[in-house]
Amino acid sequence: MSKTFAGITLILAIIIGLASCEKELENSTSERQPEYIVSESNGDFELCKTCPPGFELTDEGICKLRSLYQQYASLKDQGVGGLKTALPAFRDGFTPQQIDLGRYLFFDPILSGNGTVSCATCHQPEKGFSDGLDRSVGILGESIKRGAPSLWNVAFLKLLYWDGRDSTLESQMQGPLFAEDEMGNTPEKLTSDLNSNQTYLALFQQAFPKSNKNIELNEIYLAIAAFESSLISLNSRYDQYAHGFHGALSEEEIEGMNVFRSFVARCAECHTPPLFTNQQLAVLGTPEPDGRPLDAGAEAPYNDGSLRGAFKIPSLRNVALTAPYMHSGRFKTLRETVEFYTKGRGHAVPEGENLYLHWHIWEPDLTDTELDRLVDFLQTLTDESFMPKRPDRLPSNP
Ligand code: HEC
Ligand code: HEC
Repeated sequence: MSKTFAGITLILAIIIGLASCEKELENSTSERQPEYIVSESNGDFELCKTCPPGFELTDEGICKLRSLYQQYASLKDQGVGGLKTALPAFRDGFTPQQIDLGRYLFFDPILSGNGTVSCATCHQPEKGFSDGLDRSVGILGESIKRGAPSLWNVAFLKLLYWDGRDSTLESQMQGPLFAEDEMGNTPEKLTSDLNSNQTYLALFQQAFPKSNKNIELNEIYLAIAAFESSLISLNSRYDQYAHGFHGALSEEEIEGMNVFRSFVARCAECHTPPLFTNQQLAVLGTPEPDGRPLDAGAEAPYNDGSLRGAFKIPSLRNVALTAPYMHSGRFKTLRETVEFYTKGRGHAVPEGENLYLHWHIWEPDLTDTELDRLVDFLQTLTDESFMPKRPDRLPSNP
């Protein structure tokens, strides 16, 4: 590691403050325990008062994202986007307590109908906030329709779900919460379970100070959205390169980046930096697993035949951690995934289907070496430095 690079990393670490709140509490418990015991009823649960790494606490008491990308200009959707292109609009502005409450809720199976499934069952931090399965398994023990996307950088996304059928985190989460085959809960049971839990009553009071002590649905949604919006991954080796540290990538990885951004491969026109998605839907004609019918994708929610087989262009950040790939998890490795793009336009479209394939899906004739280099490059997009802590104990089971 060069001295300059070590210097940059050190400065970044100071700016963002890599402290984990729960840990701080644990370390200091022995000397300062009485301060953290708020009341008998909530044990020693206390929500974090500082922002997660990457966020700055403002005078108004809210957390604002700080990223080197904020110093760059936006291209306003023109062209492919250079390495120094601004980030798209994003969600932030939550309080530290709301974010920390969302963390407990995210990991707590009390959110499901029978207390066995949490958001983290399918969005596991250790697996890039996905689950390693081709298609996720819900409360009934059966595979649901599609694979779980990563939640890293979800604060930036305008389209949610593979078929882009939702656009806000608050409304999206009601899908899994109340779907019979995912978390199997109802709004009534969810609020009544949380309202009969003394710890949660106290924690919601910390996150939403108010006279009425009842926990409301919109507070649950807001807290989880706050936590999801804190999952920022923008400090990969690629980012260090983009900010000007040439030595962050090897020759092979730079070669892969050049293929990725080339007008032959055209990857970057859809997977546009810095988020590695242009946030649109595209028809690629990716195959379903053997024996499964074509997934019509965005055709149904948008009621538009030209979107048959269209899916949201996923961000490729932390993609090395989220195998298997594509909406149905059909491809087991990144190598298999990138190879799809050079096997011939429409090669996997079922007979009798006439899909409107995107014009950037064509015949780039990439060599085996170029495919290897693409995989090398995709692996430089990994960054888990702002990984949140899994709670040691949950309010539902202290
Ligand atoms: C049973 C597994 C499962 C559970 C539990 C689950 N999810 Fe998901 N999640 C998925 C799958 C599968 C998708 C994609 C579904 C689709 O596209 O049709 C998804 C999609 C998402 C998305 C959209 C991401 C994107 O890039 O489009 C978000 C956000 C999300 N889930 C958050 C949550 C939250 C918050 C919870 C808890 C309240 C939760 N999920 C519970 C499996 C799950
Ligand atoms: C026309 C837009 C477009 C172009 C060009 C494109 N992609 Fe994609 N990419 C997508 C879409 C849409 C998906 C999701 C498709 C699905 O689920 O069926 C995807 C999925 C992926 C995935 C899997 C991500 C995951 O989380 O499962 C990888 C990896 C990927 N693309 C890499 C590349 C590379 C490398 C190139 C260039 C060779 C490329 N893409 C070119 C639109 C595009």
